Amino acid sequence: MEVRLDLSWRLVLPVIIGIMLLLSSCDGGKKENEAIKKKCDTCRTVTKGFKEGMERTARSMYEGGDADWEEKKLGSYATSEMRFIEVTESLCESKEHDCHNLLEKEEELLEQWWKEHLETPDLFQWFCIDNYKVCCPENTYGPDCEECPYGVERPCKGAGKCMGAGTRGGSGKCKCNAGYKGDLCDICKDGYYQVMKNETHTTCKACHKACTALCTGGGPKGCKKCKVGWLWDDETGCQDVDECVVEAKPPCDIDEFCENTQGSHKCVACHGACDSCLGEGKDKCVKCKKGYEMKEDGCGDTDECEQENICEEEHMECHNVPGSHYCDCEDGYDRVGNECVDKALFQANNETDQASEESSENLESTTVEEGEVGASSGDQQAVLTDGAKTDEKETNFDNSEFREDLPKEKDDEILKAGQEIPNPSDDSENMPTPQSLREEL
Ligand SMILES: *[C@@H]1O[C@H](CO)[C@@H](O)[C@H](O)[C@H]1NC(C)=O
Ligand SMILES: *[C@@H]1O[C@H](CO)[C@@H](O)[C@H](O)[C@H]1NC(C)=O
Repeated sequence: MEVRLDLSWRLVLPVIIGIMLLLSSCDGGKKENEAIKKKCDTCRTVTKGFKEGMERTARSMYEGGDADWEEKKLGSYATSEMRFIEVTESLCESKEHDCHNLLEKEEELLEQWWKEHLETPDLFQWFCIDNYKVCCPENTYGPDCEECPYGVERPCKGAGKCMGAGTRGGSGKCKCNAGYKGDLCDICKDGYYQVMKNETHTTCKACHKACTALCTGGGPKGCKKCKVGWLWDDETGCQDVDECVVEAKPPCDIDEFCENTQGSHKCVACHGACDSCLGEGKDKCVKCKKGYEMKEDGCGDTDECEQENICEEEHMECHNVPGSHYCDCEDGYDRVGNECVDKALFQANNETDQASEESSENLESTTVEEGEVGASSGDQQAVLTDGAKTDEKETNFDNSEFREDLPKEKDDEILKAGQEIPNPSDDSENMPTPQSLREEL
């Protein structure tokens, strides 16, 4: 066992380590590219802000005043250190860490542009691409700003994105749009068909949903093969199979109805009142469940309490519940066997019964003391009260007839009540029965 564990670890560990290394290297490359992109984005923001700052300071220079003096002053201010500071001061929004960072690091480079290349209009090109070297011209990528596949005009033949384009990072590979593949994104992926293709352009469209991955054209007729749940028809191509009308074997259970869907079907449970049905709702029942009957608006609850011979014992009440009914004793009555007995009477008898039980014990002991040998069970019975002389049948609490239709909770209730009553099989002779109680009182 240990050897096997050892072996498997020796096999698995290198694999795990390999996967982790691979992941981390992929992740590293991705992170690096993201960092490069972020640098370029920040640089773009900075140069854009610089341009805006220049426009702002230019306006303020022209505001009113002596034109002659202004022009002299302007000439010097336009290229002055003072204006440069004014522009750079408000360049970054207060919390832009990357922006402040870049300014701090590359302020000299910016100043160089300010002093020597103010005439070069494109600060972004000069600063971010040519000198700070974090960005590339559009649709070029990587450290040397190589052209993206299929050129800078329409990289990836217009059907994908060139990875890392515009930055000094990225692989330059095409990430194709949905439905396209290939180095130049000019091949249709599985599940798509070619609508047109020439030297420069490829158009792919998704196959119809009835097709397996391959199709030669649009619609259900374009399928090379139909998916499961669809059947080929020479006229119309792949057609949905209505599983619900296939007669050989009903696709759903008896208490469910079938709903056809495109390429498949659903089995939906019938309404609770139905035994079987053709659709949703109680009005779609074919047959009602036990305890329900067909009414005007479909299967409805049968009120068993309105029937004859239901809970007809004295002081017994009938309760109708959906799909069923149960019998219960009126207030103040307790159930004993199949009958309802006045609580007060039952209580009283319970006490007297206990008393008689005690006295019977006394009697028994006296008879033994008197030395009467062989006190038979018959003798014993003689000392018991009349009421206790009972028919076996009467004391046999068979509630099964009642329990049958009872909801769960009610059943439990009865069982509980049953527990309070002495077990007839153990002590049947001492059991009070409703009949005996009544007789006694
Ligand atoms: C290729 O197709 C596109 C789109 O239909 C069209 O604009 C272009 O002129 C075509 N090129 C050639 C070389 O036929
Ligand atoms: C009968 O007496 C016993 C013992 O005192 C008691 O536990 C039980 O609840 C009584 N039964 C009824 C129905 O009052």
